[in-house]
Amino acid sequence: MTDSVASVGFLLDDAQPPDPDQRAALEASDRLGVSLEECSPGQLLRIDDAPDWDVLWWHRGRPIDDLQWLSDARPTIEDHLEGGGGLLLSGRALEAIEPLGIDPVGPAPYLHEGPTGLLCKSLYHDHALFDGFDDLRIQTAAHPVPGEEARYGPVLPERGEVLASALYPHDEAPDQVTTVGWRVGAGSVLGLGAGIRFVDEGPEHVVDNRDRLVRNALSMLATEGLALEGRPKSIDGLTAARDRLGPDPHVPRYHLTPPANWLNDPNGLIEYEGTYHAFYQYNPGGPYHNSIHWGHAVSEDLVTWSDRPVALTPDPDGPDRDGCWSGCAVDVGEARLLYTGGRGTRQLPCLATATDSTLDRFEKTTSNPVIDDAPTDPRLRSSEHWDAEFRDHCLLEFDGVWHHFIGSGVEDGGGTTLVYTCPDDDLTEWTYRGPIMTGEPERDGGMWECPEILTFEDADLMHISNYRAVRYYLGQYDPESYQFDSDSTGLLDHGCWYAPQSLDDGDRWLTWGWIKEDRDEHAQWDAGWSGALSVPRVIDLDDHGQLRQRPAAELEDLRGRTLCSQTGTARLTDETRTLEAGGRHLELETTIRLDDADAFELTLCETPDGAERTPIRYTNGNELIVDRAHASLDERTAGEPVSMPITPIDEPLSIRLFLDGSTLEIFANERHCLTTRLYPTREDATGISIAAIGGTAILESLEAWELGSIWTA
Ligand code: FRU
Repeated sequence: MTDSVASVGFLLDDAQPPDPDQRAALEASDRLGVSLEECSPGQLLRIDDAPDWDVLWWHRGRPIDDLQWLSDARPTIEDHLEGGGGLLLSGRALEAIEPLGIDPVGPAPYLHEGPTGLLCKSLYHDHALFDGFDDLRIQTAAHPVPGEEARYGPVLPERGEVLASALYPHDEAPDQVTTVGWRVGAGSVLGLGAGIRFVDEGPEHVVDNRDRLVRNALSMLATEGLALEGRPKSIDGLTAARDRLGPDPHVPRYHLTPPANWLNDPNGLIEYEGTYHAFYQYNPGGPYHNSIHWGHAVSEDLVTWSDRPVALTPDPDGPDRDGCWSGCAVDVGEARLLYTGGRGTRQLPCLATATDSTLDRFEKTTSNPVIDDAPTDPRLRSSEHWDAEFRDHCLLEFDGVWHHFIGSGVEDGGGTTLVYTCPDDDLTEWTYRGPIMTGEPERDGGMWECPEILTFEDADLMHISNYRAVRYYLGQYDPESYQFDSDSTGLLDHGCWYAPQSLDDGDRWLTWGWIKEDRDEHAQWDAGWSGALSVPRVIDLDDHGQLRQRPAAELEDLRGRTLCSQTGTARLTDETRTLEAGGRHLELETTIRLDDADAFELTLCETPDGAERTPIRYTNGNELIVDRAHASLDERTAGEPVSMPITPIDEPLSIRLFLDGSTLEIFANERHCLTTRLYPTREDATGISIAAIGGTAILESLEAWELGSIWTA
């Protein structure tokens, strides 16, 4: 490997006295197995005498102290990169990224104990930089050293691709980004900001790791370069990431997922000029919640989808610097987004307008934020992060006036939905009208996220997400008095379905929710992705004014091979039947009567020896339980049961369920929903069986289909 590092120029800047860590790096040359040639400060400035090194390496343990030298050296470095050369910036030299014009966003110097290694992204485990390492956690230093180091977070580089975050002795810090790659012209730059030290070395295996990493970096920069796109990613780049995750059996096929990295709430759902647009909270830095952008996917038919480029990116100088949080889309002749910008301790509404009908790009309003401060009456809840919890947006028009609903909570009180109004489509001048409804803290939660109102002919439905669940209120919103009167309440889902959002496509409300993960953050990091959107649900009211929730009819078009079809009645008495068919990406529809059985069980994801299995139990106590005690052999996944009460309005019980990789959504009697996660580890965890327990159950029908992928290139 080292042979390919033809020549490395080790940059010496004008530091006086020489930086000890820099010196130590130079002296490590033998051990690194790389011949380093000193490149003196003056040498780099005299372009004509600058030798033609394959890679320039600049390492500093201290902050850069000579910006003039840096600015003088910039043209030579630019030429070097344009011509296909490599540049390694390690330690505090990563801070040169902005003055060198490689990225408009530089790292933030962190002042606390430095990490002891790299937490590598699984998406890139086979990247040349990590050659020879089996583990995603690479220890490169013996112990944390107090002091400042160069890391990104919470703001990500604008053009660099994240390769690794920070590893501590007893901790992992995905949100502290240490390792970033850039493409510049034909050349590549690698930043190894923290966790790489040459003084104060530790045990041999740790030093070996560090040396291997630096050698890999130099070798990679001297040969193929970064061999990765920077950011923002092209469609090809997004597709490549999605393809890399393809073999993971836990990745859903027919649910919207991020191409890799992190997804939470659905945002800005809209049917615009005949195309469905789903935006979502997205962190391109990795599978954790931070530096939130808006990802984007589109569909013509609600069946097949394709990735589009990232639609909203936090602006390092804007009120959304720390994240573009949830919001909605509206068509006022052009498509506009209203979202929450976060910066420091403030969350405020921001507006952006689509530059064309593809909705691929949005221009942010220069007067952002469009509301300057959170209201003071009532006093809103604050937290360790926010002066006032004031976020998430829903827009509805009543008699030509826009009503803008925002989620919050009353200090020492319940969650609340606030409303503002605006008389025109500019959506920039908002008048505060107060809370439309405030919940009871015990039952309704102290903070309401993502409030949304769906209007029906005879009633309105408001739902809110209160950290625990999604609660709905059926009642009436009065746009004159700005009050919501609730007649009844319940939960839209009894599992890990959260922060839903809807679109009205003419004759129905279609709702998507975020399906949260139910495994720990280490498992999410290792998987390289986190979060999915649910299948679209149609929410409406039946003839008796009762809430109804059904999967969108279009989903039937995804049905492929029939896995099982039993249409005649079957009686099961204290027995278990294993179905011939199975799978992990399917839809199943069944109708059951309990007769005198205590329970009926439908078991999914079952291995032949039963070591992994997930029974869905319908009991005569009118409960549906997903028993996850043996769902997975991986201890990092949740094993507790999830359940929902079924109050059969009309027996028998009809179930439609959607199993897709690790997601499971159950619709019971077209009104009760339960969404959960299962992470079987074994390849043969595909079996399905049915059982009657403690008596006879009557199976009126059971059909199952394999469901295909929604992704088109
Ligand atoms: C809900 C939520 C919203 C917020 C967004 C941030 O899951 O917390 O309140 O806008 O996610 O990603």
